[in-house]
Amino acid sequence: MPDDEPQGIRLQKVLAAAGVGSRRASEALIAAGRVEVDGKVVRTLGTRVDPARAVIKVDGSRITTAEAGLVYLALNKPTGVVSTMNDPEGRPDLTGYVLGRKERLFHVGRLDADTEGLILLTNDGELAHRLAHPSYEVLKTYVAEVPGPIAPSLGRQLRAGIDLDDGPVRVDGFRVVGRSGTRVMVEVILHEGRKHVVRRLLDAVGHPVKRLVRTHLGPVAMGELRPGNTRKLTPEEVAALYRDVGL
Ligand code: URA
Repeated sequence: MPDDEPQGIRLQKVLAAAGVGSRRASEALIAAGRVEVDGKVVRTLGTRVDPARAVIKVDGSRITTAEAGLVYLALNKPTGVVSTMNDPEGRPDLTGYVLGRKERLFHVGRLDADTEGLILLTNDGELAHRLAHPSYEVLKTYVAEVPGPIAPSLGRQLRAGIDLDDGPVRVDGFRVVGRSGTRVMVEVILHEGRKHVVRRLLDAVGHPVKRLVRTHLGPVAMGELRPGNTRKLTPEEVAALYRDVGL
């Protein structure tokens, strides 16, 4: 019987296509009880699965398959671009970065128009929902350029919490990462997604933000991606995102 009959695709083929290892290595993983499909360990070689629907995990980490039609892109959003797929005011939006793609991609969370940096674009609705939901507390890392000097106690103060109009905010990490004249680059890590939260936070402690870049979303780093460019996430990055939000 061909491998792509409607009743599914052989599990070892799906694992191999997802980059887990050769077909032989994937068979060994199945036989060793390290592969789960929809929450159950599968040890039978040749088990057929629907890769578009099945949740497949190896050693507890979810894998993704091209057959599932899932797309995961990192975008370095330039300043001046609004984080929406259709801006009613006609400003530059995210549609320009998904032109020509047949999948309908959504953006995960938002950045201010004048903030640059990492935004994920995907058609994996459950992952997008969880990454954007405050209860999953995915860490976001920003680098802000602010006027210095920075008091040595500032990190402690921000970790302890600052009261904003809409409630307190605490950072998970804070450090100085660079200096240029009187300007200082600070890295701020937080699991919050409230509107303008980094700008409001740094403003409240006397360091109004001159430039703001998001460099990481959970385990995904923007790295050397240039403003306006996209790249596909690696299978390892996707697996790490799944782990972060308990999928
Ligand atoms: N905090 C901000 O102030 N702006 C953003 O775009 C993201 C976080």
